[in-house]
Amino acid sequence: MTYIVTDACVKCKFMDCVEVCPVDCFYEGENFLAINPDECIDCGVCEPECPVDAIKPDTEDDADGKWLKINADYAKAWPNITVKGTPPADRAEFERETGKFEKYFDPAPGKGA
Ligand code: SF4
Ligand code: F3S
Repeated sequence: MTYIVTDACVKCKFMDCVEVCPVDCFYEGENFLAINPDECIDCGVCEPECPVDAIKPDTEDDADGKWLKINADYAKAWPNITVKGTPPADRAEFERETGKFEKYFDPAPGKGA
């Protein structure tokens, strides 16, 4: 089992999660973060840190394992992030929107930190 980042993170990207992870397994995309499922030790510490509840145990993934695959794939492609940066200025506009991955997801890597 692992924890996964899900749709609510897209374009919100608060990054509160990265500073509490004891194994530093968050990876940064341009407008989303991914957890590396091979590194996550399933401690659950990050879950309550996310202001928009984007982090879930993989037992709450879609039936087809969509989010686990997204996290696994992009964690391999993106740089590690352990320090919270500046969240997007317009994040409040997207906090309650759903289906954001399909509409806005950017596969480009973030800067990492
Ligand atoms: Fe890191 Fe624990 Fe969250 Fe996994 S569950 S990403 S180990 S803080
Ligand atoms: Fe995303 Fe929440 Fe972390 S919005 S960057 S999962 S604190």
